[in-house]
Amino acid sequence: MVPPLGTELSYQNDMAARTGRCYDACVPLLNVFDYEELARQKLSPPFFDYIAGGADDEITLHRNRESFKRLELRPRALVDVSKVDVSTHVLGQGIEMPVLLAPVAVQRLAHSEGELATARAAAQAGTIMTLSTMASASIEEVASASGGPKWFQLYVHRDRNVSRSMVQRAEAAGYRAVCLTVDVPRLGRRERDFRNRLEYPPGVAHRNYIGEFQLPPLEVGAGDSELSASADVLIDPSLTWDVIDWLGSFTSLPIVVKGIMAAEDARLALDHGASAIVVSNHGGRQLDGAPATISVLPDIVAAVDGRCEVLLDSGIRRGTDILKALALGARAVLIGRAYIWGLAVAGEDGVTQVLSMLRNELELAMALCGCRSVAEVGPEVVYSQARPD
Ligand code: FNR
Ligand code: LAC
Repeated sequence: MVPPLGTELSYQNDMAARTGRCYDACVPLLNVFDYEELARQKLSPPFFDYIAGGADDEITLHRNRESFKRLELRPRALVDVSKVDVSTHVLGQGIEMPVLLAPVAVQRLAHSEGELATARAAAQAGTIMTLSTMASASIEEVASASGGPKWFQLYVHRDRNVSRSMVQRAEAAGYRAVCLTVDVPRLGRRERDFRNRLEYPPGVAHRNYIGEFQLPPLEVGAGDSELSASADVLIDPSLTWDVIDWLGSFTSLPIVVKGIMAAEDARLALDHGASAIVVSNHGGRQLDGAPATISVLPDIVAAVDGRCEVLLDSGIRRGTDILKALALGARAVLIGRAYIWGLAVAGEDGVTQVLSMLRNELELAMALCGCRSVAEVGPEVVYSQARPD
């Protein structure tokens, strides 16, 4: 079943018609969870499920949230916090807040302007957007939609020429890093998508496959989804660490390795020349049963020992989550679903609002912990061990 695009507008109109009041006035959108709830009401269930869902029993999906909730922050008193500065640097790039936009595939499932709206909102917020290999707008379309800083996320294909050409196009279009995703040798089993037989509506496609690299039409069989069918055809499951050396042989862009969950993998990424790593379990969409990222972060930070920047994603929904990640050694975090809920609710404005809410929440949390800048956020901001309730 392929639901039509454009449901976002009809929801707003329905609300306005029923209440006679402006949409924003009737739905209080105070936090990311409010955006998620509204997105749930607006999106066709298969699209909502694709975004919200995780692998198998969604244990890791939920664990990401539970582990953030368990960590305790340490309030500090009587520090002059009349000014709190949340700006920072990632790979030498100044950004207004320590939050980047993670690569999320086919964003036109959430809103008709998809990645173009996301790119504009990221630039407006002064941060970096990462464009997915499986985007529904091309590298070049996104570059012309926004001059803000961008990274390109790479899945390495069975045909290496496809990946080489995408990286070269990203470099030519001014993208500033390649974010190599290493946790998808095979796609995790998202049972919601299989139940829904997820298919893209007409007009929504993976737009980075152009010219000689056009995709063949895909058959979505029983017990399959369009995404899993294309991932199986495209992504090379035989990759090993020398793929980083291969990438470095033809691009001068820094390489960010995304999907690290083990200290020894962090060291291997460094040995092969990674400029940064992202501690990520793909938002609970790959190996179900993997730990929460925030619980493996300290070991990985220790293994890296300052030799490259460490970022984290998976489960960030609050400014306090961002603060906890910074306290345990992350340079910055990436958000996935949080901004996609904003996109689904109100396009570019929705992404802008989510980013600004998270920024305000982070500023407040830093003030209450006595931190006036990101540089002042250290391990003392969280209690080192769980204490009895
Ligand atoms: C993703 N993610 C992802 N990662 C990646 O490297 N390439 C991709 O194309 C996608 N696509 C994608 C689609 C959707 C709908 C989601 C929700 C996620 C993973 C993403 O970059 C990030 O790791 C997680 O989203 C982080 O978890 P949270 O913030 O969503 O909890
Ligand atoms: C996903 C893939 C595309 O998580 O990364 O849906």
